[in-house]
Formats: sequence, C-alpha cells, structure tokens
Amino acid sequence: MKIIKSDLHAIAALPKQYPNDDLPEIAFAGRSNVGKSSFINAMINRANLARTSGKPGKTRTINFYIINDSFRFVDLPGYGYAQVSMEERKKWAQFIDTYLTSRDNLREVVLVVDMRHEPTSLDKMMYDWIKSFGYKGLVIATKADKITKANWQKNIKIIREKLEIKDINLIIPFSSEKKINVDKVWKEFNPIILEKTKDQ
Ligand code: GTP
Ligand code: MG
Repeated sequence: MKIIKSDLHAIAALPKQYPNDDLPEIAFAGRSNVGKSSFINAMINRANLARTSGKPGKTRTINFYIINDSFRFVDLPGYGYAQVSMEERKKWAQFIDTYLTSRDNLREVVLVVDMRHEPTSLDKMMYDWIKSFGYKGLVIATKADKITKANWQKNIKIIREKLEIKDINLIIPFSSEKKINVDKVWKEFNPIILEKTKDQ
C-alpha cells in the first residue's frame, strides 16, 4: 500500500462523533500499552500521528485515522489497565462495545498483543468476540524486536494455544520500532479494504 496521505479524522466517544460517511474501517483492539498506536504509526509511516506513550492508558478515546482519503484505521482505548478508576474503565468499555457492535463501516477487528507475554483472559474474551462476529481473527504480535528471533516461534505458540487459533498464519510477528512485517500486514489488509470499495 502506498500511503499518499494520512490524517486524524475524528476523536470520538459517542456514535454521533464518529465520521459520517461509508469509508471502510479496520479497528485495533488490545490491552493497554501493547503498542496499538505505535502499530498504526508504523503502518502509515508517520512518526507520531497516533499518540503513543510509555505509560499505559494513553489512548482514551476512539481515534479515527483516514488514509489516502479512502479508508480508516481506528485506534481503540486499551483494556486491562488497572491504574484507572473502575468508573473510567467502565466508560471506556462502553465506548468500545458501542463502536464494535454498532458501526456499519467496520470491516475487520484486529487483536494486538505484546509478543513477549501470554495473552490474558481479557485478550481471550476479546478474541472470542472477534471470531464470533465473523471477522478473520488476525493477531498482531508486536514488540518482536524485544525478543530474539530464535524465540519467536516459542512465543507465537503460546499465543496460539492461549487464544485457541487453528491457523498459525493468522498471528503476525511485528515490530513498530524496527518496522518488521509492515508489508506482510498490508498484504492482509489490502483485500479487506478493497473488498469494500468493490461492493460500495
Ligand atoms: P494505550 O493507548 O495505553 O492503549 O497503549 P497502546 O497500545 O496504544 O501502546 P503505545 O503504542 O502507546 O506503545 C506503548 C509503549 O510501547 C511505547 O513506549 C512504545 O514506544 C512501545 N512500543 C510499541 N510498539 C513497540 C515495538 O514494536 N517495539 C518496541 N521496542 N517498543 C514498542
Ligand atoms: Mg494508544
């Protein structure tokens, strides 16, 4: 994918704040701090369009990034971050839930995990939800640069077993830092985006 243009399109909590058009969207879900915003930046080759942070809980709204004026990446707030109040966590969960269950533009939900760690039960819940809604079930295992390549297979196996994934090709090792597998992920995303343009 040649990225000609990328911009922040909207920051939303409530559906009335979502962009009002029919462009296809791919959304990224995952625990706080796994690297969702960094993944978006790496894919569109922008250093800091999506705001990232070393501290968990950076993305607190649903952020829509428009690419080449033709589709969007949607950065969701991370879940499983204990350092915020229950009240706040419930609010984010509600934002995410409403977006995922009501958004017609949504074509794919991608789970982002930190390749160094075993997925949590929240990851498993999210993944089961993604599959139950008929999405492909792609998993981006990011921060791959933080472990040696010799250990990739072992960690991928742990992710596969925990999430009960049959097709190992659905798990893609990725590094935003070292730009590992950017092209490979675009190969997965292209048909998802193009499919939409076709039936519109
Ligand atoms: P929330 O917005 O809190 O949900 O977090 P997030 O999932 O968007 O994570 P974010 O992209 O802000 O990244 C969290 C931290 O991990 C930052 O310090 C990033 O620089 C770092 N990080 C993200 N991806 C990678 C990667 O591929 N490699 C390395 N080494 N660090 C990464
Ligand atoms: Mg973020």
